[in-house]
Amino acid sequence: MVNIAIFASGNGSNFQSIVDSYKQNKLFVNKIILITNRKNCYASQRAIDNNIKNYNFLLSNYKDKREYEESILKVLQKENISYIFLAGYMTMITDILINKFKNKIINIHPSLLPSFKGKDAVRDALNYKVYLTGFTIHYVNEEMDSGQIIFQKEVKVYKNDNIDTLRLRIQEQEHIYYWKIINKIIKGEEV
Ligand code: GAR
Repeated sequence: MVNIAIFASGNGSNFQSIVDSYKQNKLFVNKIILITNRKNCYASQRAIDNNIKNYNFLLSNYKDKREYEESILKVLQKENISYIFLAGYMTMITDILINKFKNKIINIHPSLLPSFKGKDAVRDALNYKVYLTGFTIHYVNEEMDSGQIIFQKEVKVYKNDNIDTLRLRIQEQEHIYYWKIINKIIKGEEV
């Protein structure tokens, strides 16, 4: 079994669903750590509540992104981490981590990529009046939301949806699937 790091910036509902599966012994993982990049994000509180080691890195405390990621890298090496799973981590990953974790960094994004890349994917899909959106689990490369797709799940858009209702329905599906796909990736199983 491997050690994994979850990277989050906000609410951490995906982090929570991964931790829940771990606590129910459903996850093929030895240890989870959380990396956050915002002050007082709720994901950190969830880590505290669930006894998960939690490291906070603020870019503003470093000379540049390079130094910032180098210090994250040191923690990942110290904790013997094999995979990084992004769960609402709202900043780009650079080559510092990508080169050390080749095909071992995975992201979840709330749209059917390649449609609606970026931080406002749910709103953009709604504004575009699509009938179908969803989420994508994909490998991370240097370009935003562009790495090889691992898994996608569709979610219907209803006429009366607003950004909150649609986001919640997408996240419900993310919570059902992300940990299952994490297991498959770790076990080297076909998704
Ligand atoms: C999730 O819906 C995830 O797909 C999205 O942020 C949300 C985080 O929610 N990620 C992105 O938009 C990445 N571009 P959470 O903090 O409650 O897990």
